[in-house]
Amino acid sequence: MSAQKSSPRVTAPEIRARKGGEPIVALTSYHAHTAAIADRYVDFILVGDSLGMVMHGFETTLPVPLDLMIMHGRAEMRGAKHALVVVDMPFGSYEESPSQAFHNAARVIKETQCGAVKIEGGTRMAGTIRFLADRGIPVMAHIGLTPQYINMFGGFKTQGRSRDQWKPIEDDAVAVAEAGAFAVVLEAIAEPLAAKITGAVRIPTIGIGASAKCDGQILVMEDMLGLSPRVPKFVKEFGTVGKAIEKAIAAYADEVRSRAFPAKDNTYDVMD
Ligand code: KIV
Repeated sequence: MSAQKSSPRVTAPEIRARKGGEPIVALTSYHAHTAAIADRYVDFILVGDSLGMVMHGFETTLPVPLDLMIMHGRAEMRGAKHALVVVDMPFGSYEESPSQAFHNAARVIKETQCGAVKIEGGTRMAGTIRFLADRGIPVMAHIGLTPQYINMFGGFKTQGRSRDQWKPIEDDAVAVAEAGAFAVVLEAIAEPLAAKITGAVRIPTIGIGASAKCDGQILVMEDMLGLSPRVPKFVKEFGTVGKAIEKAIAAYADEVRSRAFPAKDNTYDVMD
């Protein structure tokens, strides 16, 4: 794929308008420098609350505070100048009531200047999605395996494996679309169900461990780079960055221990 030319920032309505068109490319990113690289190739960047597990070593996304999301969202906006930046609302910051969700989502938009927020939940969050959208906050929905619901699921499990589980998930997709979400993430949903939902709803579906028939795809950047210690089975590793980091650190440690680094003729210009 070729790098995109610099152009105005992608908007939520533009992503919404891509339903059934050219596949939407998305990645998570949590800091400015990976944002600047991803920005040349993707349509939107998600500052996912997966950063709690990927960057901060938590077992789940549940401990992630709103202030941390805002801090990473700000870094992301400094790095990405073209892609739409979507910031995840973390557990406990939106579920209590539509007004709690608006209060916190407005903070995210004001303090990061991102273009949209993402919230987890289908039918149960439809009223909140409508409340936010009516007040100027574009919402990406997230259904299927919603990691903030992990204690109810009892683990990170594929949703909709048997047909009798399909109906509530299909209802979730329809509910968030009708409530005004501009797109919906389908996470770890059985392939035929994800394909069926994609054909049924009027907003783009963004798959992660779902179906190639989704309107777009997203992966956690560290997972696809080969940098995460534990990755879901559906992830394809497009890089071996973890191994490259280890090789470089081992080489550095060897040179320090053998007094080969720093070299005597190193003049130490701080920056060029
Ligand atoms: O937090 C996250 O990274 C996400 C993606 C898995 C979609 O929600």
